[in-house]
Amino acid sequence: MASPAETARIDSRGGAALALKSRPAAPASRDLYARVSHAIPAVEWPVYAADIDAIMTLKRQRNAVVLAHNYQTPEIFHCVSDIVGDSLALAREAMKVDADVIVLAGVHFMAETAKLMNPEKTVLIPDMAAGCSLAESITPEDVRRLRARHPGVPVVTYVNTSAAVKAESDVCCTSGNAREVVESLGVPRVIMIPDEYLARNVAAQTGVEIIPWRGRCEVHELFTAADVRELREDYPGVVVLAHPECAPEVVAEADFSGSTAAMQAYVGRERPERLVLLTECSMSDNLALLNPSLDFVRPCNLCPHMKRISLKNIRRALENMEHEVTIDPAVAERARLSVERMLQVK
Ligand code: 13P
Ligand code: SF4
Repeated sequence: MASPAETARIDSRGGAALALKSRPAAPASRDLYARVSHAIPAVEWPVYAADIDAIMTLKRQRNAVVLAHNYQTPEIFHCVSDIVGDSLALAREAMKVDADVIVLAGVHFMAETAKLMNPEKTVLIPDMAAGCSLAESITPEDVRRLRARHPGVPVVTYVNTSAAVKAESDVCCTSGNAREVVESLGVPRVIMIPDEYLARNVAAQTGVEIIPWRGRCEVHELFTAADVRELREDYPGVVVLAHPECAPEVVAEADFSGSTAAMQAYVGRERPERLVLLTECSMSDNLALLNPSLDFVRPCNLCPHMKRISLKNIRRALENMEHEVTIDPAVAERARLSVERMLQVK
């Protein structure tokens, strides 16, 4: 495994991603294989190696960094990314990036957030169609209507939304800071959009009344409370971690609920012998590589949007400088304020 100075990564104890500060020689694919050898058979490695070496060279030529969400596949997450993390870490670390070009290996709203925090940098997403069912569930017009229906009630907006929706909001949140953001407002009621389940899960933790929207994550809504009970029967002693985008009934059956970074921190801290992560498949794959002694049970719900990103299209993004993420400056100015207000809270 490379040293922290070679590449910035979260460690197995769940620390936040580190910004890439200097540019020593990039490791070659043959040296990187050790990081993923438990997930990718040696016979398959040549399929990845050429793209990895090309990406390493292109990153130096373009003075580019790759920011990758925890749901990216191991060859992206462990081999070509410079900064990895949950939505909150990516938003925060995007501000510290010392590069001309950011390639966002994740979904469109994450690339927009990186652009909001880096208006002068070129932000690329390898596939423009990498969307999100939550982001698609609400429009700026919907937010204006909600405000008209609930005059004076502040709007807390999950980062899984378009910049245009963020621009209509008072403050953003992620699953890693939602409760703190809601409580920081010091009001008895807030509107929380667009994830109905996240809103209900936060409402269960706070005295603040929450008016939800009807958005759902198409990946996390598939997990049921019956699944959790079945897992406990089939795998005695299994520790269940559920993402807060899961239904409240699922969260209630779990041993722990938190963002992907909070799950990673829990695993580093508690070291459960056998565990299951009720979230996107690659999260377990990536964490299992960092924690080979733990037994990960892996019921698998793939996010089709996250899975649009591949080594091939990351390479193409850097070769052709495609696809550039742009935001109308008038929208960006207001959306940035919502993200900045969140980052001031936590
Ligand atoms: P976090 O990594 O912030 O927990 O978000 C999960 C998710 O579904 C992002 O799309
Ligand atoms: Fe959106 Fe859910 Fe996919 Fe995350 S996992 S990008 S919330 S659809």
